Amino acid sequence: MLKRSIQVRLFQYANQRMDKLVIQGGSQLSGTVSASGSKNSALPLMAGTLLCGDGEIVLQRIPDLKDIRTFSKLLDYLGADLSYHNSSLKISTSNIRSITAPYELVKQMRASIYVLGPLLARFGQASVSLPGGCAFGPRPINLHLMAMEKLGASITIEKGFIEANLRSKRLKGAEIDFPISSVGATGNTLMAAVLADGVTTIRNAAVEPEIETLCRFLSAMGANIQGIGSTTLIIEGVTSLTPATFSNIFDRIEAATLLTAGAITGSSITVNDVDPVQLTAVLGKFEQAGCRIITDTDSITLQSPETLLRTDIIANPYPLFPTDMQAQWIALMTQAEGTSYVIDKVYHERFNHIPELNRLGAHIEINDNEATIHGPKELTGTKVMSTDLRASACLVLAGLVAKGVTEVLRVYHLDRGYERIEEKLGRLGAAIQRESYQEFA
Ligand code: EPU
Repeated sequence: MLKRSIQVRLFQYANQRMDKLVIQGGSQLSGTVSASGSKNSALPLMAGTLLCGDGEIVLQRIPDLKDIRTFSKLLDYLGADLSYHNSSLKISTSNIRSITAPYELVKQMRASIYVLGPLLARFGQASVSLPGGCAFGPRPINLHLMAMEKLGASITIEKGFIEANLRSKRLKGAEIDFPISSVGATGNTLMAAVLADGVTTIRNAAVEPEIETLCRFLSAMGANIQGIGSTTLIIEGVTSLTPATFSNIFDRIEAATLLTAGAITGSSITVNDVDPVQLTAVLGKFEQAGCRIITDTDSITLQSPETLLRTDIIANPYPLFPTDMQAQWIALMTQAEGTSYVIDKVYHERFNHIPELNRLGAHIEINDNEATIHGPKELTGTKVMSTDLRASACLVLAGLVAKGVTEVLRVYHLDRGYERIEEKLGRLGAAIQRESYQEFA
């Protein structure tokens, strides 16, 4: 019996086909690519459509990504009508028939928690599966729940679900002080507060461009929000919102990852369709590392130095250096002269990429939330993989400069957040291609 079940499992694993990126390292890059729309901005915008039960909302510059498809499936499950064409996503949430975000979808993407605030605000109830573990350490949602309770929801956790119900007819405006800056909790609270009765003040609100964009989208639909872009948001609730057409911002992490591809290969490249201001902290670090940065209103050119200089970073909330670029920066520093230090103050355990970089020949130590990178080291290609999005991007960057062939396995992590990265890097001159393979456990 036991033998039979093992055979069955082996058979199942043997049939798992996946994609990998195969990179021949050492190519010099040149030319120009365009940044896609932001994933982390698109997701709350999509959730925000749940607040408007009347007519069709058009979201432009929405990237074609796995996470966007997962969130679309969630909205579809709730009863929304969606269509996607040429980066434009049309959504109507007039016929919502469920207030439940099921485990099967939430476990694929933690950002599903974004439906909590809108569902509560519009329907007075929401049932959202708890997201479960994350590949890079604990990611609690206590601040989301605290804010919903302050706004008048009663929250219980039952059978792995957040069960939220209104204690009165509408959510009630409240004073909400976040002890730490949270993008997700700020977004969820904003979306709940726009339809609440009275005034809500959010203090220590996250100031990431994705939050500012969500504020602008909600305002375009008729929400009344003061203090946009600051750490204090004052929201006067309205009774309903009207549909709007809204254009998403560029993906600052994708753009910065592409610039890192230029820097790690000693090349000069340009990324178009960006707002350089949103990358001020990252561009400053490139300059410290010896790169020349030339910005225009909507483009950034990076020219690499002869020798990359060691440059420390501390990942922190915006406008400081983003945690979502920490892994890519570590890859870059493996090629810099001297020892550099990278601290992540947002996610203390987000270092999945380091053992894999070391397998490629890097010399990096981790101590608590600090990585010490001894550079420069010649990397040599092999098979590598990672279990999260930015760690996978970091391995692709390392592959661009490694001697020989690097195979980055399980590309589905990368596909969550980078729109056809191999095509963009290929256009810049990288020798990179996607291949399908069979994964054996
Ligand atoms: N936190 C709590 N309690 C909460 C919420 C957050 O303690 O209820 C803590 C987190 O553990 C973390 C800090 O607050 O230490 C900040 O987390 P935040 O809530 O800002 O993160 P998030 O909203 O869950 C978004 C991005 C992440 C990005 C972080 C930080 C989306 C969909 N995700 O997550 O993006 O790392 O902000 O900037 O917007 C990625 O794109 O690879 C990614 C992980």
